[in-house]
Parts: sequence; C-alpha cells; structure tokens
Amino acid sequence: MSHWEDQFGDKALSIDTQRRKILALTNELSKYVKQGKAALILDKIFANLYDYIETHFKYEEDLFRRFHYHDSKNHIDEHEFFIRQVNRLHKDHLEKDDPMIGCETFNFLLNWLTLHVKGLGTRASLKIQ
Ligand SMILES: [Fe+2]
Repeated sequence: MSHWEDQFGDKALSIDTQRRKILALTNELSKYVKQGKAALILDKIFANLYDYIETHFKYEEDLFRRFHYHDSKNHIDEHEFFIRQVNRLHKDHLEKDDPMIGCETFNFLLNWLTLHVKGLGTRASLKIQ
C-alpha cells in the first residue's frame, strides 16, 4: 500500500510539515475547548486556517497538475468542501456569540485530520481525552 505522496518524492516532506501545523493547531484548540475558553483563540485559529488554505492547498494542487495525479479531482473537491466549511464557521464566529462554535470547529478539524489528512498516525498524535 502506498500513500499518494510517495509519488512526489522530496515534495512530500513539505506536505508533512504543513500537515503537522494543522495537527498542532487542532491540539491547541482542543486545550481551549476543554477549558471552555475557545472564544479566546478562535481569531488565531481562523487566521491560521486561511493560511493553511492559501499555502497547503495551493502547494498540493500545483503538485497534482505537475505530476498528473490521477485522483486530483476528488482531492480538490475535498479542499473546496474544507474552504466552504471554514468560511461558514468563521462567519458564525464573527456574527454570533455562540460558545458551541469552538467545539464545532474542533470537531470539524478532527474529522478533517482523520478523513483527509491520512497517514502520520494522526489519531495517536492528537492528545484528545
Ligand atoms: Fe489535501
């Protein structure tokens, strides 16, 4: 069994670095959610998520084009889904004073790491109790 990144050689290292960032971000949000203080960190979380979208998605999608990756359509659809969800959660965060948004954002990121960001022993790396 080979992961799709195996096709990309050294480039996969950069993808791994970007992936670790989203993992660290999710762990950080988890700490705040557990303390009921997610509202304090959500601005930072969303800023980082937009940065992740700008850097990581573009980087991956550029590799897909260069390497004619066979499953790029499905993968890019998942990126577009992620962008729509982040936009919706961010809008809710700005417009509503709802303490559940932090929790919802955390669950969304956890799902993303599990379903989209495969490999890396993701579950073991997350310090979720
Ligand atoms: Fe991706």
